Amino acid sequence: MRVVILISGRGSNMQALLDAGLPVEFACVISNRPDAKGLEIAAAHGVPTVVLNHRDYADRPGFDTALAAEIDAFAPELVILAGFMRVLSDAFVLHYERRLINIHPALLPAFPGLDTHQRALAAGVKLHGCTVHFVTPEVDSGPILAQAAVPVLPNDTQHTLAARVLRQEHRLFPQAVRWCAEGRVTWGEDGRVHVRDSLDAADSALVAPLS
Ligand code: GRF
Repeated sequence: MRVVILISGRGSNMQALLDAGLPVEFACVISNRPDAKGLEIAAAHGVPTVVLNHRDYADRPGFDTALAAEIDAFAPELVILAGFMRVLSDAFVLHYERRLINIHPALLPAFPGLDTHQRALAAGVKLHGCTVHFVTPEVDSGPILAQAAVPVLPNDTQHTLAARVLRQEHRLFPQAVRWCAEGRVTWGEDGRVHVRDSLDAADSALVAPLS
């Protein structure tokens, strides 16, 4: 399976994917920010990189059209948003329907959008986590592939909580991409994602208790 990854910054989720020994070909990593740290990591892994600075475009449709042209040059079967911090236009999302996935740092449908860790603390939830989902036009609301939950501790700050969730992101994302690469994922008529092979499907809910 040929894959293109989109990033905007640090690239730790991208790195987890590159390091996971997945049965995929990483055709390219594209960043909308020239200073994204993840670009160096991708290059060190021998993956071609492209920078497409959104500031060079007058509007969102213009940027999204250029981005789609870059992506389509690689004819990917899967496009992965790994910390890509731009809202994408409906036209872009529909162009990649069923082959665009994202990782979100919360247990959707709770806390879509930004500042998820701070909002989870403010809400007093006792469990928090991360979600891998297909991307649909409505932000952070597409069918869920997999989730991982972590406890929220009394003394947590948004930073300690973010770090705990991030460790699970780095487990969950490679697992979900592996399922896609193995052709085991279907997005059913019922609007839900099904993973063939019941034993592994049970792993689509990871819980990481404190050890
Ligand atoms: C992650 O927390 C991801 O869930 C969110 O943005 C962050 C990106 O981190 N969408 P990194 O660039 O993968 O290190």
